[in-house]
Formats: sequence, structure tokens, C-alpha cells
Amino acid sequence: MFLVITLLFLSTRSTGVVGDTLFAGVCDGRNGDNLPSPTQTISLYQKINIGWIRLYEPFPDLLNSLQGTGLLVAVGPKNEEIKTLADQYEYAVNWVKTFIAPYNVSFNWITVGNEVIQSEIGRYVPQAMRHIKAALTQTGISRTIHVTTVLSTAALANSYPPSAGVFKPQITEVLTEIASVLSSTDSPLMVNIYPYFAYASDPSHVSLAYATFGSDKPVVIDGNYQYTNIFDAAVDSFNAALEKLGHGGVKVYVAETGWPTRGNPPYTSVENARAYNQGLLKKLTTGARATPRRPQVPVVTFFFEMFNEDLKQGEVEQSFGFFTPNMVPVYDMWNVKCL
Ligand SMILES: *[C@@H]1O[C@H](CO)[C@@H](O)[C@H](O)[C@H]1NC(C)=O
Repeated sequence: MFLVITLLFLSTRSTGVVGDTLFAGVCDGRNGDNLPSPTQTISLYQKINIGWIRLYEPFPDLLNSLQGTGLLVAVGPKNEEIKTLADQYEYAVNWVKTFIAPYNVSFNWITVGNEVIQSEIGRYVPQAMRHIKAALTQTGISRTIHVTTVLSTAALANSYPPSAGVFKPQITEVLTEIASVLSSTDSPLMVNIYPYFAYASDPSHVSLAYATFGSDKPVVIDGNYQYTNIFDAAVDSFNAALEKLGHGGVKVYVAETGWPTRGNPPYTSVENARAYNQGLLKKLTTGARATPRRPQVPVVTFFFEMFNEDLKQGEVEQSFGFFTPNMVPVYDMWNVKCL
């Protein structure tokens, strides 16, 4: 296999990039029995000049492969560890000593829990975050690492129009506590956003163009703010919800977003996935990196995901990858075509 540089994004390379590296992240899910090795995986990230990687667990072999690469890393403890991390400070110190301190890796975000806020362990998240933050300091890690958590849009009771964004009442208390930790540590809240699901569940009210960055005219006008795409609207619903908690200064970053290529035609398709992901990459690399409600805050974003994962439940969930497990691109993206 060899990679050929295409001209696809060359015209946009003067903004949104550092050197040749894109200001964008890609998630590396590992639920597959046929995935490339950690070394092959990290080489592919470097070949396509992705600057950031999100791991779902601190797999030692992946962390080894990341050493010295300079890729910015988001990683978190397993959901099953969150209660113990909250209950026992020493456990958090050990976690940092085991998974963070030994590696020459540019850790930038620690995600305490992925979409767990509404579950049993949700209430342990704020204390687990505090413990990890304190453990990083105690362990002498000099690099600033943002400790945060990741919400899904299910955390919102209302998201339309974006200014009406508000969290569900039953999680308001824990989210207020989390927002206060984020605020005092200057860390972002992270959210997973899937315009695909909004579109596929209600195609008669949600247009494909609005879902996939295909509209250059406003589709939703919300007071002074105009929205041409769901991505911006969804991020701003979270911004509005944070304002209602009294924490409008906390930034909203996107920990996952993507579009599946198979499993639910015609909503899933290579064409729709390409339109969404290329549209988003263009947004993130051409100066419009913020949202109408927060024009000064570029939205740090991780695309979901590097490889199709054959062990996930159902064809849709298995088909978000940019690459097949043999590292063949599913469609043109990231400046590469595979011949
Ligand atoms: C650690 O990684 C950086 C790149 O991120 C590299 O410049 C440096 O030499 C590495 N340090 C060691 C001790 O290997």
C-alpha cells in the first residue's frame, strides 16, 4: 500500500495547521479483532498529519508507540475505575504513576468517563476528576493536562433552538459541580455530537444539507445567531446549557463526531459520510473554527473514527471508520488516496 498526496485540502493549508499537521483529532477505537498494530496505527496518524488522538483506555502498547511523536493525546480511565478513583485518592495517584508519568507522551486531556453522567457512576465523576488533577500535580507532571468528562447529547433536555439548550434536571446538580471544577482548572467540557442520528431519526424535518454542511444559507435563525449546520447548533446548545448553570466561560470541545458509511441506507452512505466529514474538516481548517455563540472559541474536535470496528454492535456502529482494518481509505479524506 502506498499513499498519494492529493490536492484536496492544499488550498486551506495556511490556516488551521501547524507546519503540515492538521488542528484536528481522530478517535482510535479498539473494538475489533482485525485492527492494525499500535505501531502501524500511530504511523498512519503521522502519515496523514493528524495532530491529536483520542484513546478510550490507556493501552500501554499504544502509549509506547506514541512516545516521542508529539501527537496530543486524550485518554481516560476505564468507566469501571471511576468510582474507585473518586473513593480513594491513592488509587488516582497510582493511576497517574502507571499510565501517565512513565511515558514521553504529550497528554493533553484526561477524559473521566465517556457518556456516564446519567448512569450509576455519574455522581462519582467530579471527585474522580479532582483526584486525578491533584495526583498529576503531586506526581510532578509539569505539562498542563486538562481533566474533563465527556457527555452525549442525551444530557440535554432541550437543544432547539440552540439558545434553549438546557441540561436534564436530574443531572443538573452533578453537572454544576463538574462545570465548577472545569471552570477553576480552565478545562473544557467535552461532548459527543452526531448530526447523523438527528438526521436519520427525523429526515422529514432535518435536511441532509443542514446535517452535512451542505447549506451556505442559514437554516436556523436563533435571535442574533444564524446556523447553517447542525454541528454548530449542537455545540451552542451545550454552550447555552452551561450558561444556565452559571458557567458560560467553560469551553465546549467535541470528543467524537462522525458519520457511518453503512448499515442504514440511504442515510448511511460513503457520499454522506464524505460530505459531513469533509465539510467539518473544511470548517475546522478555514477560519470558521468557532460557533456563532462563541465566535472567539475554536472548537477542538475529534473525528470518530480511524478504523471500522468489527466487534461493535450492529453495522452502523461498525462503520464510522475512515479506514478499513487493512488501512485502506473508505473514501478520500486527510489528503490521502490509497492506490
Ligand atoms: C520526548 O518526546 C519529544 C517529542 O515530543 C522529543 O523531542 C524528546 O526528545 C523526547 N524525550 C526523550 C527523553 O526521549
